[in-house]
Amino acid sequence: MDKTILIELSYIVSAVLFIYGIKMLGSVDTARRGNRISALGMFIAVVATLLVQGMQYQYIVAGVIVGGTIGTVAALRIQMTSMPEFVALFNGTGGLASLLVGWANYQARMDGWSEGVPEEELISVVAIFLAVLIGGVTFTGSLIACGKLAEIPWHIESRLKKSETGLVALLLKAVRWPVKLTLDSKPVMYKGQQIVNSVLFALVLVCGAAFVYDPAGMYLPFLLSLVLALVLGVLFTIPIGGADMPVIISLLNSYSGLAACAAGFVISNTVLIVSGSLVGASGIILTKIMCKAMNRSLANVLFSGFGSTTTKTAKSVQGEAKPITAEDAYYVLEAASSVVFVPGYGMAMAQAQHAVRELGDLLQENGAEVKYAVHPVAGRMPGHMNVLLAEANVPYEQLVEMDDINPIMETVDVAIVIGANDVVNPAAREDEGSPIYGMPIINVDYAKTVFVLKRSMRAGFAGVDNPLFVAENTRMLFGDAKRSVEALVSGFKS
Ligand code: TAP
Repeated sequence: MDKTILIELSYIVSAVLFIYGIKMLGSVDTARRGNRISALGMFIAVVATLLVQGMQYQYIVAGVIVGGTIGTVAALRIQMTSMPEFVALFNGTGGLASLLVGWANYQARMDGWSEGVPEEELISVVAIFLAVLIGGVTFTGSLIACGKLAEIPWHIESRLKKSETGLVALLLKAVRWPVKLTLDSKPVMYKGQQIVNSVLFALVLVCGAAFVYDPAGMYLPFLLSLVLALVLGVLFTIPIGGADMPVIISLLNSYSGLAACAAGFVISNTVLIVSGSLVGASGIILTKIMCKAMNRSLANVLFSGFGSTTTKTAKSVQGEAKPITAEDAYYVLEAASSVVFVPGYGMAMAQAQHAVRELGDLLQENGAEVKYAVHPVAGRMPGHMNVLLAEANVPYEQLVEMDDINPIMETVDVAIVIGANDVVNPAAREDEGSPIYGMPIINVDYAKTVFVLKRSMRAGFAGVDNPLFVAENTRMLFGDAKRSVEALVSGFKS
């Protein structure tokens, strides 16, 4: 068989495996297999690409060794809790790779375009520009996202005069030395931010138009758009608060796919175009799902600086919380015939998932029906709770989604909220003035009894008070979630 046909056929097989693998990622019990199937697809694609004539294998082998070693060591060492940062870094490197492919390809073909670009190559020129633009934004945007999630301090503070506001102040802060570095994940907003971003973006487009018109003679505009793409990645990401970063990471993931797709057009590689499009599409779908689950628009996530201020229009919570000891909570659980765990960000912080599973098993042995209800945006990344519960080997069949548990919540004897707050806040259902009004929640307050495990009365990510904590049927079990659950476990064991 002709080698080219063999390569193209392999690409089709790879594409089918990618799509099938992604479909399997949609369910927890098939996700691992889906991941392996997609990896097999990628393996076939890589082998087929290596069969393309004129490959310089020494560079490829060196790249595989260096990249493979870094990736393997990093993946083995990464903590489960640092996964979102890790994903951000991967997106960033994907963007950088596309940028470099576009740039290198331009350098190699520039001379051939000195007499004008043949019509059939125009698409390559546009693709080069897009690979560099989207790749650049993705690279620096992902680095900032990673830094914000890891809470790497990066704000630069120095004494500013009152008159120094807006971008000027930001630049002055950066150049005035000595400066105090205080790094955190707060949104960075300044006066005229959208105007600055829009002007810079318009400038990139002008450079892009000049470049496409005459690629051989427009090296400077090309370099300028490359630098501006890197700057825009930073500027687009800094106004977004750390807690919104999962949405942004998923959006950047989509960008990295689009950049790869453009790079595929640059080097005329079908499988790169297909896989890039798949990543681009799935990233944007995931972004949309997350925004919907928070009842916020993407524009609100991108531009509102959520987390920098709290709204004052929400109703204040009246009433007193009723604390309970682990011992008393045990007696209630001992008599319960149905129990639902509702995990949230605090379970991840406390690393309580193993203890929770042990308690779940003990409750089942005691005759109770046990379920784990997972809210789509509980925690700080998509599937955060599913990953933790899977790590603790919670049986898949005990996991239930929000829409399945809510209709039967009134029949549940005890709902145990483990470090969740916003995702169980009834204000989202009842208080129109609340910033989270309209966000779908798990209606734990409808259960006969609710135990809330957290350390204090502090608000969750959205900074909104939670009337659940003072509800008649709620008991607060204060303390670190892991310790509280362990105390309940030892109640059953003794
Ligand atoms: P949050 O509303 O953030 O509440 C977490 C609670 O955990 C806090 O109130 C905290 O209370 C408690 N906590 C922290 N450490 C703890 C520990 N060691 N032991 C016990 N409790 C602890 O969490 P949630 O209910 O999971 O909601 C997630 C929020 O993130 C939502 O507002 C969602 O919109 C937002 N968000 C999620 C995503 C994704 S994809 N998951 C993306 C963007 C935004 P104490 O300090 O009193 O202990």
